[in-house]
Amino acid sequence: MLRHLLELDDLSADELVSILDLAERSDPQQILAGRGAALLFEKPSNRTRVSMELAVVHLGGHPVSLRNEEVGIDTRETAEDLARVYSGLCALIGARVFEHSKLVRMAGASSVPVVNLLSDDAHPVQALADLLTLRQRLGSLPGRSVAYVGDGNNVCRSLMIGAALAGMGMRVATPPGYEPPADGVTVLTTDPAEAVDGVDAVYTDVWASMGQEEEAGKRRQDFAGFTIDDDLMARAAPDALFLHCLPAHRGEEVAASVIDGPQSAVWQQATNRMHAQRGLILWLLSQ
Ligand code: CP
Ligand code: NVA
Repeated sequence: MLRHLLELDDLSADELVSILDLAERSDPQQILAGRGAALLFEKPSNRTRVSMELAVVHLGGHPVSLRNEEVGIDTRETAEDLARVYSGLCALIGARVFEHSKLVRMAGASSVPVVNLLSDDAHPVQALADLLTLRQRLGSLPGRSVAYVGDGNNVCRSLMIGAALAGMGMRVATPPGYEPPADGVTVLTTDPAEAVDGVDAVYTDVWASMGQEEEAGKRRQDFAGFTIDDDLMARAAPDALFLHCLPAHRGEEVAASVIDGPQSAVWQQATNRMHAQRGLILWLLSQ
């Protein structure tokens, strides 16, 4: 059966566990042998492109990375036509886009799995790596807790869905006006100290995402008091983990002493992008 991953709620709780288990397999089946994966980027990327290309190579496949400048999604040809072309040439499509609706349209026209490599609304492959990292460091996920402090953005939303699927408690602190959509499971507050109180992991992301660069100055003012520093980390559980999807801005959303300190798991988290996506591709191509 054809499956896509546009947001983590495309998965059941059991399917999420299966993907995390597959991510930890050291001898993966060469499921992409002799086949290609089209990876299309409408926004810049460092980790996602490198980790997806290597995940494809680990499975015997050939990654074809494309910048939108050469492809022209919805300008040179439609998102649907791109999906039809890649379906005939490749076993998998990955796309990083501004409007999430472009992914929905690609998935609707595709006969191979479509993976969201980040949209304005969601970053599910990041959340898979986040959960894999938390599972490796905490032992298991059900009953554990994570606090997200910062902008209620794509990364925050996918983590909220992932934490709920994994049976984790989640608290989110944002300035007024920057809240993620309420999901009925996550505790929302405007007080970072309340959010991090006693949690097993503290997470943050940039205050201005790709496409919001002109708002960076205003956001720096609106997010005053939301920097993850040593005082805030001291309110979490002893030895609580610090997570960040990266790229990071030291001195804005996180103090250098935290991201470069002993509680930081961000490099393991970045490496896990490759492992988590390899598990995801294995799972998608086995359905
Ligand atoms: N975390 C993440 O997705 O990084 P890139 O934007 O560099 O791919
Ligand atoms: N929220 C950030 C995540 C980057 C990986 C952005 O969308 O730019």
